[in-house]
Amino acid sequence: MKFQLIAAAAASVLVTVNAAAADVQAGGAKAKEVCAACHGLDGNSTDPTNPRLAGQWPDYLAKALRDYQSGKRNNAIMAGFAKALSQKDIENLAAYYASQKPVLAAKY
Ligand code: HEC
Repeated sequence: MKFQLIAAAAASVLVTVNAAAADVQAGGAKAKEVCAACHGLDGNSTDPTNPRLAGQWPDYLAKALRDYQSGKRNNAIMAGFAKALSQKDIENLAAYYASQKPVLAAKY
């Protein structure tokens, strides 16, 4: 009985998490449209001016974008792009770039 209750509770948590899950495909479409020119479509920017986003933690990416929006993190370039994003866009983009495979690059 106790086990069934726990299983039911766990199942309902899974359903809730799924319902709120970010849309990686929509994030990819947005990335292609707006971000790829600087960060690369797969998040492995080859220009050292633009940070690599591939494989970064999604929470970190989403926080960075929200901080650019609010001005807590100050960067003239990213402020403009971040302000044009909805909260859903941020979740989707963060999930998309986090899901990309980072490539190693040696500077020297
Ligand atoms: C014109 C080039 C350009 C475009 C387009 C652009 N970015 Fe950026 N992005 C930058 C630069 C430059 C930085 C570094 C800014 C800084 O020093 O804080 C940056 C930083 C970031 C960071 C923080 C990375 C870190 O490691 O802290 C994230 C996240 C990010 N961009 C996401 C995006 C997303 C998502 C888009 C598309 C909606 C986008 N950027 C579009 C140039 C760009």
